[in-house]
Amino acid sequence: MKTYKIGLLRGDGIGPEIVDSAVRVLQAVGKKYNIEFTFTPYLIGGAAIDVCGEPLPKATVDGCLASDSVLLGAVGGPKWDNLAGDMRPEKALLGIRAAMGLFTNLRPAKLYPALKDECPLRADIVENGFDIMIVRELTGGIYFGERGYREGKYGQEAYDTEAYSKMEIERIARVAFETARKRGKKLTSIDKANVLETSRLWRKTVHELAAEYPDVEVCDMLVDNAAMQLVRNPSQFDVIVTSNMFGDILSDEASQITGSIGMLPSASLSDNKRGLYEPIHGSAPDIAGKNVANPIATILSAAMMLLYAFDEKDASESIVSAVDKVLSEGYRTADLARGTAAISTVEMTDKIIERL
Ligand code: IPM
Ligand code: MN
Repeated sequence: MKTYKIGLLRGDGIGPEIVDSAVRVLQAVGKKYNIEFTFTPYLIGGAAIDVCGEPLPKATVDGCLASDSVLLGAVGGPKWDNLAGDMRPEKALLGIRAAMGLFTNLRPAKLYPALKDECPLRADIVENGFDIMIVRELTGGIYFGERGYREGKYGQEAYDTEAYSKMEIERIARVAFETARKRGKKLTSIDKANVLETSRLWRKTVHELAAEYPDVEVCDMLVDNAAMQLVRNPSQFDVIVTSNMFGDILSDEASQITGSIGMLPSASLSDNKRGLYEPIHGSAPDIAGKNVANPIATILSAAMMLLYAFDEKDASESIVSAVDKVLSEGYRTADLARGTAAISTVEMTDKIIERL
């Protein structure tokens, strides 16, 4: 029997509930496919601040690096909102991404046929559905640039800077081209090259790499236009590649047109595919501990882990199709229910497990 060591970063808010759901699904699917998982929890975010006085203790980094793969819930909450930037829970997320070298963030946004009515777009716009893979750069750009306070023209000012090296752009663009090659062979590179120097280098680098991928159709799109195109005609997109911050923003937008941000999983990867898997949504402190959060994004993140980290294709597909079935049968958590009867986090998890 194969055994995989999984590090668990439950984090804050709804993080613990949704991670526990995904763990139960992994255990169930493991039984069916003869895979054993061991789960070791590590503290991160506000939970780590409360216990250790820092958001990303060294033991957490060491534990994650020693794991075969890592599953993360979410970090942050009002309790820690007034801490200095370096002590905030969110800093831990950036820290673990950097420490594990997770420069690639894959965020698939597809419309489940059963959720067509939950999509806020007009029926004729999503008639043919959509299936987008957002490839977000995750360890560079303005998230990691120089920042601080200084005296400016109008007195004290704050600043953040964006920097991208050719190497960073090339390695994420390569992942995107390879991804497009395995899908619809269409790549949209999103930037703000009409204003930003980093975007101009981004564009130039993507164009140079395109020569190596003649089978992939590549086009550029400005980020403001992309935000508009995502709601005007999402089915035009296959693979999107973009910077850390643009990817953060566009993936929230893409998630909402799938019906709910509670649906979107993600895989954060380094050169090896072990990586860290997390829902794209946050810690939702307003609904934490109420057993109402949608666990699907985290459960689908676990499915991505099985596929990317462990090459367990059948087990992964079994989870995805169980989610599909539950949604087709009409079960909805509160975020998707639009006022109709909703089932709880635990009930949704049970339904998915029953259909594995
Ligand atoms: C995400 C989150 C994080 C990000 C925050 C919590 C730092 O919004 O994973 O999308 O901006 O990357
Ligand atoms: Mn985000």
